[in-house]
Order: sequence, then structure tokens, then C-alpha cells
Amino acid sequence: MKILFAPLQGYTTGIYRKAHAEIFGGVDAYYAPFLRIENGKPREKDLRDLEVSNPQHSNPEKPACAITVPQIIANSVDEFKVLTEVLLQKGFTQIDFNMGCPFPMQVNRHRGSGLLGDTQTVQAIMGEIARQSATETARFSVKMRLGQSSPDEAFALLPILNDTPLTQITLHPRLGKQQYKGAIDIKSFEKFYSECHHPLVYNGDISSVSQICEMECRYPKLAGIMIGRGLLAQPSLAAEYKAGKANITGKEFTDKLLQMHEIIFEYACKTYQGDSQILSHVQSFWEYIEPSLPKKVFKKIQKAGKLSEYQEAIIEMRALS
Ligand SMILES: Cc1cc2nc3c(=O)[nH]c(=O)nc-3n(C[C@H](O)[C@H](O)[C@H](O)COP(=O)(O)O)c2cc1C
Repeated sequence: MKILFAPLQGYTTGIYRKAHAEIFGGVDAYYAPFLRIENGKPREKDLRDLEVSNPQHSNPEKPACAITVPQIIANSVDEFKVLTEVLLQKGFTQIDFNMGCPFPMQVNRHRGSGLLGDTQTVQAIMGEIARQSATETARFSVKMRLGQSSPDEAFALLPILNDTPLTQITLHPRLGKQQYKGAIDIKSFEKFYSECHHPLVYNGDISSVSQICEMECRYPKLAGIMIGRGLLAQPSLAAEYKAGKANITGKEFTDKLLQMHEIIFEYACKTYQGDSQILSHVQSFWEYIEPSLPKKVFKKIQKAGKLSEYQEAIIEMRALS
């Protein structure tokens, strides 16, 4: 079964995806955090980040990433067209459409899970997907939740989605109002699984090889599992599943983490200026890994206000491995 790396704004940056593919691997495709419209234009910062892992710009001797699939978030056909046009120009041929983001900033602008209750707008965007799939080289997928406030929303949309030429649907079986906590609605997931005509990818709270295998056994029609926080916490997870066992030892894990960190750190030092900017880009690497780290070292990393203090903490970690 395919393992897809979920997009997490602020965590799975271009350099993170590139470093993960190089050091841990096991992931079939990396989904980039959403590109959105800001001040009437595609957000420059998001576009620059996509370049880091764009296959067109990678060194052929050192392939950057498995595959990066850019994602867009839009509240209308107009926004959708502006965003897809710029991605097509950059050579991307696969685009994911976000109908799941629960952040109030997006939901209040009628984007992400804020769009799920609006059948008419979704229908119009799906019409545009059908048009572009027939005339352009692009292929589209959708990442969605069950609804903003009720699972009825996803089931009202499903006939429209079934009629649209999508490569896959990724479903996170929570409601927007739950954000990322609270119970997963597995009953609604099963109903969606049986009624969805597209390849379906499950997403939500997967953090071990045994959970992946359990999903594979329970839902044999699943096209894949998309994992976010579980892979951030244990970057070896996808490779371990592919190898058929949890085979990475403590020392090997720490060594690989440090190698991955080195790539991200070097990039941050080259790209950003000043200690605080650099630190804000590298400290997030450790956030989800916290449970696997010695408490003292993690605290030192988080508290570092200067680059020299941060580097001391990394040296301490290296000494422990
Ligand atoms: C901080 C944060 C940022 C996220 N950014 C995105 C995003 O840009 N696009 C998206 O589709 N999902 C985003 N998500 C949702 C994740 O892709 C994923 O659906 C969610 O974390 C549940 O999967 P998991 O339990 O495997 O982490 C974000 C989640 C978090 C916590």
C-alpha cells in the first residue's frame, strides 16, 4: 500500500521533504502544504518553498524527492484557476485540492473545511477540474474531512466527487470543528469507503507499523495511508513499513535524525538571516520528535535563543548517540 506524507504547514517544508526522502525514505509521495491567494496573487513564500523540491530544479544525480504533490486551497473557481495556472507553468502535473483545513483563518474565508457545506461552489470547482483534466496535462486529487459541522456534508458531495475525474480522495474522518482532536468517526469513514468510486486514502492518527497493517487488512480496497504527525514523530515509520518490520535501532535512528537535521540546518543558515529567523526554521524539526529525545536536550533546543546555544544542544545529542 502507498504511504503518503501529509502536508503540515510550518513543518513539512520543501527542505524537510527533500531531507526526509534522502535520509529515511519509504514515502511514495510528499504532499506540500497548501498554496493560497494572498493580496490577489499566489503567495510567493509558498511558491518559493515548492521550488526546493520541484523535480525540474533538482540535481539529476541527487534526486530531490520521491514525488512532491503541490496542494491548493481556494474558495471559488477564480481562485482555483489562478493557483492551478501558476503550478502548471512550473511544471507540476499533479495537484491536490484542500477541502479539509479547519483553521478559522481559512474556514472563515470559505476555504478548506469551510467549503464542504457549499455544494454549489464545490460543484463549480469540480467542473473546472473536469475541464482542466480534459484539456491540460494536470491531474487532480482531493483531501477532505467529513464536514465542517456534520458528516452529512461529505455524503451530499460524494455523488459530485464520484462524477469528477479525480486520481484519489484522501479522507480525514473528523469534522472541521474538531480540528485535530477528538474521536475519529470510523463509521462514517466506512460508509464513505463503500460509496466512494475513486481510489481512497485514509488519513488520521496513524503512528505505528502495526496500525498501518491493521488498516490494510481491514480495508483491502484502500489505495494508501497518508501520515502526518506520526511521520514527523518517527521519520523512519514509512521505511519500516516498507521493510516489513520495525528494524531501526536507537543509535541508527538518532544518527539518521542528525543527518536529516544537518541538511535542514545548512539550508536554513544559507537561506535565512539572523539567529532568530534561522532558529524558527530549525526548532520545529524537533517538536513532534520530543518523546524520543532526552528531556534535557529537548529543553535546551527549545529554549535556545542564540544559534550558539542551539548548536551546543545538538552537539550534546550527538554525544549521546
Ligand atoms: C500544524 C498543522 C498544519 C497542517 N497543514 C496542512 C496543510 O497545509 N494542508 C493539509 O491538507 N493539511 C494540513 N494539516 C493536516 C494534516 O495534513 C493531517 O491531515 C492531520 O495532521 C491528520 O493526520 P495525522 O493524524 O496523520 O497527523 C495540518 C495539520 C497541522 C497540525
